Amino acid sequence: MLRVAQEKKIIHVTITDPREFAEDGIVDDYQFGGGGGMVMKAEPIYHAIKQVQTRQSHLISLTPKGEPLTQDMVKQLLNKKQLIVLCGRYKGIDDRIHSLFDFQEISIGDYVLSGGEIGALVLIDAITRLLPGTLGNIDSAESDSFQCPLLAPPHYTRPEVYRKQTVPHVLRSGNHKMVAHWRRKSSLRETLVRRPDIMGRETFSKNDLAILLEVLDGKNS
Ligand code: ADE
Repeated sequence: MLRVAQEKKIIHVTITDPREFAEDGIVDDYQFGGGGGMVMKAEPIYHAIKQVQTRQSHLISLTPKGEPLTQDMVKQLLNKKQLIVLCGRYKGIDDRIHSLFDFQEISIGDYVLSGGEIGALVLIDAITRLLPGTLGNIDSAESDSFQCPLLAPPHYTRPEVYRKQTVPHVLRSGNHKMVAHWRRKSSLRETLVRRPDIMGRETFSKNDLAILLEVLDGKNS
């Protein structure tokens, strides 16, 4: 998908290597105060950023200390003309870099990667697939889990019966209203069971509340 988006000139991705901005090619050093692990030097990073920064740049620093990435944050980033994504390595980057630029610090999850590059790919992928023209069918992005704050309902394709499991009857009924009701109910049920912590992100209609009562009653329509 990223290749197609670049070919269609929907996005333009470049990589800037801080090594090219280090006089001796060395980008890391021991940390003051001792302790294991190398720290990235501020100066090569400073010049690498200056090389690509424009007035329209939005700067992101990928770090496990950052704000956890959500779909809402991805949607906000869609409006930015240029993103500069700083990927740390080793123990991180000399902290003084953070007072020289206005970074949005983002974490892609509560675990530690060996560098920010994979995080950058995650971010670029999540943004690119929402840009007009990237996905063939925009509907498929709109019905994702998290595009709406609730988890997506299950999806099925042919065959109708697979290893003795039949696709729910309502999805083969051709009745769009019933299909919509089934999908909404599945979304509400899946979210309630798997991710009760995110239920509060959705605004519920009266119809949703009626469906939630059905879910809690265990009715399986
Ligand atoms: N670099 C190392 N771990 C990271 C994480 N969880 N998120 C973003 N960048 C990182």
